[in-house]
Amino acid sequence: MTLTAPATGAASAASRLATPWWREAVVYQVYIRSFADGDGDGTGDLAGLRARLPYLASLGVDALWINPWYPSPMADSGYDVADYRGIEPLFGDLDQASVMIAEAHELGLRIILDLVPNHLSDEHAWFQAALASAPGSPERARFIFRGGRGESGELPPNDWTSHFGGPAWTRVVEAVGDEEHPAGQPGQWYLHLFNSKQPDVNWTSDEVRAEFDEVLRFWFDRGVDGFRIDVAHGLIKHPDFPDLGERERPHIPFGSGDHPFLDRDEVHEVYRGWRAIADSYDPPRVFVAEAWTGDAVRLGMYLRPDELHTAFNFDFLVSAWREGELRSVIDATLAAHAAVGAPPTWVLSNHDVYREVSRYAREQDRPQVRDEADVKGRPADLELGLRRARAAALLMLALPGGAYVYQGAELGLPEVEDLPEESLQDPTWFQSGGQLRGRDGCRVPLPWSGSQPPFGFSERADGAAPTGEPWLPQPASFAGLTVADQDGDPTSTLELYRSALALRHSLEALGDGSMSWVQAADGSLDGVLAFTREPGFACWVNLSPQPVELPDGVEVLLSSGDLDETADGAVLLPSDTTVWLRR
Ligand code: NOJ
Repeated sequence: MTLTAPATGAASAASRLATPWWREAVVYQVYIRSFADGDGDGTGDLAGLRARLPYLASLGVDALWINPWYPSPMADSGYDVADYRGIEPLFGDLDQASVMIAEAHELGLRIILDLVPNHLSDEHAWFQAALASAPGSPERARFIFRGGRGESGELPPNDWTSHFGGPAWTRVVEAVGDEEHPAGQPGQWYLHLFNSKQPDVNWTSDEVRAEFDEVLRFWFDRGVDGFRIDVAHGLIKHPDFPDLGERERPHIPFGSGDHPFLDRDEVHEVYRGWRAIADSYDPPRVFVAEAWTGDAVRLGMYLRPDELHTAFNFDFLVSAWREGELRSVIDATLAAHAAVGAPPTWVLSNHDVYREVSRYAREQDRPQVRDEADVKGRPADLELGLRRARAAALLMLALPGGAYVYQGAELGLPEVEDLPEESLQDPTWFQSGGQLRGRDGCRVPLPWSGSQPPFGFSERADGAAPTGEPWLPQPASFAGLTVADQDGDPTSTLELYRSALALRHSLEALGDGSMSWVQAADGSLDGVLAFTREPGFACWVNLSPQPVELPDGVEVLLSSGDLDETADGAVLLPSDTTVWLRR
């Protein structure tokens, strides 16, 4: 076998030190409702998070992204914000939040919050005021209210549908009314791309823009290091609100900027303004975009130097565990990000998608696997899924740029696919009329210790017994997967993550920078993703069904599974395994 590994620019120790933290951070996603419950009521909270900060520091991550923690009626698990300047009482209060931020900083962990600018809760004061005001009023201008179609306005203004299923418009009964829409009668409709309790905000309003600027400053002033931006691709709608018609109704929009409500070009102006605010702080604050775009080039547009810093790479997340797909996603990502000078941000899971163990447990016979709709009715081999998830984690952590780790991924948790129907809370379950169970299966409270629910999830500082059950039931199969079970076990997924994160910090080659594919002219690397990073590092991922022989003279730093040896001493990398090598 001939290996060709063209050397690329080696990052010097000095340039490593000069690298801004966000270009190579590993960020741990805290889904606060399900992370740790410190008051024993069954819902995760700030007290629980504070108690577990040392766990996160010792895991070796650089920052935490905390899902929305603001006061919320929880129609969409906190993505329906009733007050952007407060803390949901179930989670704690502002003082506790400030203490948590300070404690995290002490431990070297930065804090990224979640900003939800596309919509807010129908219980937010602004929407209550809009309902109490007449059509055409300034209170209504903060939202997207329109008259209906049909003889008496009884049909929605257009055919847009909610991401959770059903129409994207809800009609209100007018409290005040006008000539066209009398008081006490069904009148105007308001737009909600998600649940009807999440009215979309009108981003052509200067008042709306000024308000979100102030919300950013409110939290930046409290020491928050950055924001994840929810539905960053969705803020701006076509001014004429045209029907979608026969066009596809995708999660992932068209690639050209002409979709009526997704990834429109005008949205970039908003982010230029936010970047200026973030840059006015010392140290500068940062953003990560949740932007589902048609392709890597459209994603790169959010990352131009005067816009957002980073964006989740969902193409990587949804890619099947197949060499060809992963290679093209990696190539397209590197090219599109290099074109704008931004670091890629890799991610394998989050609170919206099927956990990677359960995605990879299915036959990988389609190019993309994202959620329930892609796996429904397909048999799962969870042992295989875990093996691949471990291999994927080492791949992700070796690629240039930063990465996000969703809570529980470090424990190798699978999706909980058999939650009792009566426990389901995701709006998808209700809006799909029970066709799709939704995202609760990846949101089940974490197992920390013990052999039965609540698996140490609800642990009060005073040692008293919990007063509530976990808000979603934990399966008996979490036994054996707890943090306590995995702690110190060198074969555990937790220890694999710890080792990988520690190595990542110590190896100059990892983090921000470049990589080069290793090619084998004789075809012996078919089905293998092999790349080098300088100085002296290589990562090999075997996605083929056969073992592959590793080159002579390399030192194995870490592997996601056991390696084999041939009779004459060559090291073999088994199928669905990743290895990190010193060259
Ligand atoms: C994306 C969030 O991650 C998801 O959980 C939420 O339902 C939608 N945006 C709407 O806010």
